[in-house]
Amino acid sequence: MTPQIVPTKPIEGQKPGTSGLRKKTRIFMQPGYLETYVQATFDALGGVVGKTLVVGGDGRFFNAEAIQTILKMAAGNGASRVIVGQNGLLSTPAASHLIRLNGADGGLILSASHNPGGIDADFGVKYNIANGGPAPEAVTDAIFQRTLEIDAYVTLGTPDIDLSQLGEIALGGMVVQVVDPVADYLALMETLFDFDALRALFGSGFTLRFDAMHAVTGPYAKALFEDRLGAPAGSVVNAVPQPDFAGGHPDPNPVWAKELMDLMMSDSAPDFGAASDGDGDRNMVVGRGLYVTPSDSLAVLAANAHLAPGYAKGLVGVARSMPTSEASDRVAAKLGIKSYETPTGWKFFGTLLDIGHVTICGEESAGTGSDHVREKDGLWAVLLWLNILAERRQSVAEILTDHWATFGRDYFSRHDFEAVPSDAANALMDKLQGTLSTLPGQSFNGLTVTRADSFSYLDPVDGTTSANQGLRLFFEGGGRAVLRLSGTGTEGATLRVYLSQYAPKGADHHRDTQEALRQISDATATLCDFPDFLGRTTPDVMT
Ligand code: G1P
Ligand code: ZN
Repeated sequence: MTPQIVPTKPIEGQKPGTSGLRKKTRIFMQPGYLETYVQATFDALGGVVGKTLVVGGDGRFFNAEAIQTILKMAAGNGASRVIVGQNGLLSTPAASHLIRLNGADGGLILSASHNPGGIDADFGVKYNIANGGPAPEAVTDAIFQRTLEIDAYVTLGTPDIDLSQLGEIALGGMVVQVVDPVADYLALMETLFDFDALRALFGSGFTLRFDAMHAVTGPYAKALFEDRLGAPAGSVVNAVPQPDFAGGHPDPNPVWAKELMDLMMSDSAPDFGAASDGDGDRNMVVGRGLYVTPSDSLAVLAANAHLAPGYAKGLVGVARSMPTSEASDRVAAKLGIKSYETPTGWKFFGTLLDIGHVTICGEESAGTGSDHVREKDGLWAVLLWLNILAERRQSVAEILTDHWATFGRDYFSRHDFEAVPSDAANALMDKLQGTLSTLPGQSFNGLTVTRADSFSYLDPVDGTTSANQGLRLFFEGGGRAVLRLSGTGTEGATLRVYLSQYAPKGADHHRDTQEALRQISDATATLCDFPDFLGRTTPDVMT
């Protein structure tokens, strides 16, 4: 079978970020578009001759077609093997694991994460490198450069192949290896967690509701919780991946996982509630009557991880993204281990994990993970929580109350202002940046600023500095506000305002979160002139 060389044109302005290239599905569906991007990726890697790749996606609209295109192109470009999930499905953490497990050269993950799916919704392609993590900027830049000059792509003019059967299929000179998307991932989880203790927990009548949000974790969660660990049938809901996620946003937060939140706040709440996103890397954790913020979740997991076999020796260090609350720093200090504060985005954790400086890391945006893969991992976080509950035999609320009594509580909330005109958002950030040095000592709504800066990060591995990673305002009394513009939004700009307030040991730890943050929120709105720049002071989403 001779490869076909198909002429194409450069694609303008299609710059991949750390989450890969995210666009409207119809853009990806334009003839030759996906092909051109994939060829640019292969070219930027110096070609894929003789290489092994992992390919899979979250099952959203266009996933199946895109995978067939990629397989034919990999074969046409001389790859030796592609490991692909049955029916084209792989969660992002499972793909990361398969790359590492098989010593693959890299992988292509098809997803737009927590964003909606469908012909009029979102699609994405992300390249991960041999360590299993997202491609670093040098690689995404090279891919981008190549999209600007490319003039042809290579493929094989063969019919689609059947990805519904496990096993190996020859495609030209390449082997397509169709694997069970769940099996290897489950085997990895079994090395980290005490499955006997988890079975005993469910055997004792412990109840769980896991909401897969019609996305990729459905089959994983069914196999794990119901088949292996003995949770009653029906514990996992919305478990069949749908191309349009049943019309919803597969985003595990109190807004989009409202059905789960309502259940957990009701009289019929099970002991534990959890949800994951489109591609399975994010998580939400809810106890009976209590939502656990991702920042608190990271801290609780860090403080208790030693209760799970995979972390019994203790942690080396803990990392959090800068906007995430300082709760995990307090745990690290008590454990006598290092804590790291990195810019937003998982790639900064990847290097710290690779050199063995941290074991657990997390972001306020519902991402938590460890050194077992190089992506955040939703089901991993749920399993670690369950393992802790199995050992401590306390409720989520009791564990949180106890945690706050030991470390104090960091009230935390993120306020998002969406679809802000880009000029307004940039003007606001520019003005704030320009006045930072004048702020300390000034009071706003009765609250004095003690320190203000623009966060910049020096990577301890490659020595590069990432500047302008968010503007930080510290207030008297342990309050903090962080402002940054989203790097993943598709419509105008999204201004994220991260608010936190520390309530030390002995203070009231059972206040309403928004109430506890009101003064900081008001002071920030005044200080930044929200009404002037945004025309409003009320955010669209508060998580
Ligand atoms: C968002 C989250 C960030 C996460 C990223 C990719 O990015 O805030 O924590 O790493 O998605 O999942 P943002 O839109 O804020 O740039
Ligand atoms: Zn995701």
